Amino acid sequence: MINIDELISKMTLEEKAGLCSGGDFWHTKKVDRLGIPDVMVSDGPHGLRKQDIGNVNAESDVIEAVCFPAACATACSFDRELMYHMGEILGEECRAEDVSVLLGPAVNIKRSPLCGRNFEYVSEDPYVAGELSAAYINGVQSKNVGTSIKHFCANSQELRRMTASSDMDDRTLREIYLPAFETAVKKAQPWTVMCSYNLINGVYGSENDYTLNKILRDEWGFLGYVVSDWGAVNDRAKGVAAGLDLEMPSSNGLNDAKIVEAVKNGTLDEADVDKAVKRILTQVYRYHEGKKDGKEYIFNRKEDHKKAVEIAKQCMVLLKNDGSLPLPKSGIKVGFIGAFAEAPRIQGGGSSHIFTKNVPSALDCVKGICDVAYAKGFNREENETDEGLQLEAIELAKTCDAVVIFAGLPDSFESEGYDRKHMRMPDCQNELIDKICDVQENVIVVLHNGSPVEMPWNDRVSAILEAYLSGEATGEATVDILFGNANPCGKLAESFPVKLSDTPCYLTYGNKVNAVYNEGVFVGYRYYDTKEMNVLYPFGHGLSYTSYEYSDLELSQSSITDKDTLTVSVTVTNTGNMTGKEIVQLYVCDKTGYEFRPLKELKGFEKVELLPGESKEVIFTLDARSFSYYNEAMKDWFAASGKYEILIGKSSRDIQLKAEIDFRATKKIPFVAHENTVFGEFMDYPEGKEALEILRPLVSEGLLGGQHVDDVMLKNMAEAMPLRQIRSFGGISDETMKKAIDSLNKNFGGYKSV
Ligand code: BGC
Repeated sequence: MINIDELISKMTLEEKAGLCSGGDFWHTKKVDRLGIPDVMVSDGPHGLRKQDIGNVNAESDVIEAVCFPAACATACSFDRELMYHMGEILGEECRAEDVSVLLGPAVNIKRSPLCGRNFEYVSEDPYVAGELSAAYINGVQSKNVGTSIKHFCANSQELRRMTASSDMDDRTLREIYLPAFETAVKKAQPWTVMCSYNLINGVYGSENDYTLNKILRDEWGFLGYVVSDWGAVNDRAKGVAAGLDLEMPSSNGLNDAKIVEAVKNGTLDEADVDKAVKRILTQVYRYHEGKKDGKEYIFNRKEDHKKAVEIAKQCMVLLKNDGSLPLPKSGIKVGFIGAFAEAPRIQGGGSSHIFTKNVPSALDCVKGICDVAYAKGFNREENETDEGLQLEAIELAKTCDAVVIFAGLPDSFESEGYDRKHMRMPDCQNELIDKICDVQENVIVVLHNGSPVEMPWNDRVSAILEAYLSGEATGEATVDILFGNANPCGKLAESFPVKLSDTPCYLTYGNKVNAVYNEGVFVGYRYYDTKEMNVLYPFGHGLSYTSYEYSDLELSQSSITDKDTLTVSVTVTNTGNMTGKEIVQLYVCDKTGYEFRPLKELKGFEKVELLPGESKEVIFTLDARSFSYYNEAMKDWFAASGKYEILIGKSSRDIQLKAEIDFRATKKIPFVAHENTVFGEFMDYPEGKEALEILRPLVSEGLLGGQHVDDVMLKNMAEAMPLRQIRSFGGISDETMKKAIDSLNKNFGGYKSV
């Protein structure tokens, strides 16, 4: 093993500064004088986008690879094993192609359906995003290949992504925008973390000491290197001090020189440069050492395509089904309508775009299963209706027993680099679906989109299959599900609102300069469920061709403290006729009323496979964090004492079983009394009794004002009244006030229980 400290001690300042940026677009730098090798990194996340450097005859500037389902789809699998497995496949592909780090997963929270890059992100829920990403990272890294979880952090819009500041309070950052990264670091220790382009509360992600040094490293224990998003560096020297190790791509020496200059003029500590170099070299050598594991990998595109088919089948979500699915393979005339049937949309645009030629369409795949007639209906990339195509499709629909419309978003509607303008599908498609419904009773819609769409025709169609952007195997997986060769088992990892104006950040999303996250922690179902709003399809929703029953919810204890764990078990039975997989969800609901909190929050999920008639017990383990919110005064996670409900559901809106638990907090919250402390903060505490006695004559005299006021009213009035208010009642001296405040501070000792 190479001694990295010794190596660094032999390097000049210029060599060290040089190592802190790439050699080109995709490689770290070599230092020939010291025999330091380079490594290559590539996108990510749902396939290998390795640039084919030097191959001038290539059809694409990236190698041909396998396009797996994008994260919008894989998230719906709610399947940690599947994510691990996909990670393993990608890790092997990287090894075969000598790529040291795969640039993914991308875990930014889906704050608004408008974010152009939602297709690449996992969920509106940080728990799902963290759990699935940790599994993916562990899978990739099991092959001695690194990952780069991105974009750290609060990069939930594409609009002005390089200059906008994501402004929010610490609680929102901690509860919503950080935990996916936190879970991944704690459970999977990614080799690298990619900082985001945006600023976080006014400080660039690439020079943010709070997020990079304090939170990521000091609090969570991240050990790898931080790489900039491509071109995200603002002030390079500040970045080094804040914990940004590697600048990508190369700045052609410009920023390296700035590091040298900053060290020389004393504004940057050379020890910070050494730290960055050490972190980079540790991962560079780790990769080269790992390659000595004796395993040879071959990128077998055909084999990996088959694996992509299996994965895609586990991701699609059956949103609605009145019984028309699965379709019989014979005996009825089926029509396929819509341009996506012959050319499915399989991925989004931008840096994650995989070059593949192996994209069988649903029309290709249905051959040999069932005879279908086809009409294009509309042009895939257009908004306007083509009358001829529309008419032809309507005529076909009239002659069929069932029609499957392959609809979705054009490429230009969602991509990295810009946001969506609205949540609608192209007019030509909405119009076509409506017109087909006029002439055909049995209409099934298959959707190809990376983020929710409005569905004005929702009530008119018989079934909807959300295929999302399911990669090159979209056609095979769709046909298998449509005809019952596979049982749909995905559930939504995001809510589908009825319309854009229902979304929590509707009023401020797209602000002129910065992104103001003033909806706070109320994102996705945390908002819709707390507000009791109608949604088109709720978070966690997804149907199956079989049915499930939940029973026997049991808690290991009826009361716990913040030092305990709680085991929750529930039995799930497949009550239908087909083998299937059910995603069981556990939500926690805070009934204490101590702090504003979402009505419920997901704290556990398990996917179980069940044969017809089979039952399995599903077990969840909860700890204090599962009950907690982030208390800004404490700078810590905290759950107040009182009742909490454990909800077991098929979705966030379909809760099957409930149980109550009594929670006792042993942690206390900070409490220092002063003249503006309100009575409500202490009057019900034994520690507050003495102060009340000192003040009682003044309080009741002043509040009563000679009238009859019953105790409840008195209490309600005093609740929000500050101590200093007593002065206006007259008769109080500064000395008495001080005595009361001193008593509070002595008796509470700086903390109180809640
Ligand atoms: C994207 C990253 C990507 C990088 C390299 C950036 O524009 O934001 O997600 O990994 O480019 O392609």
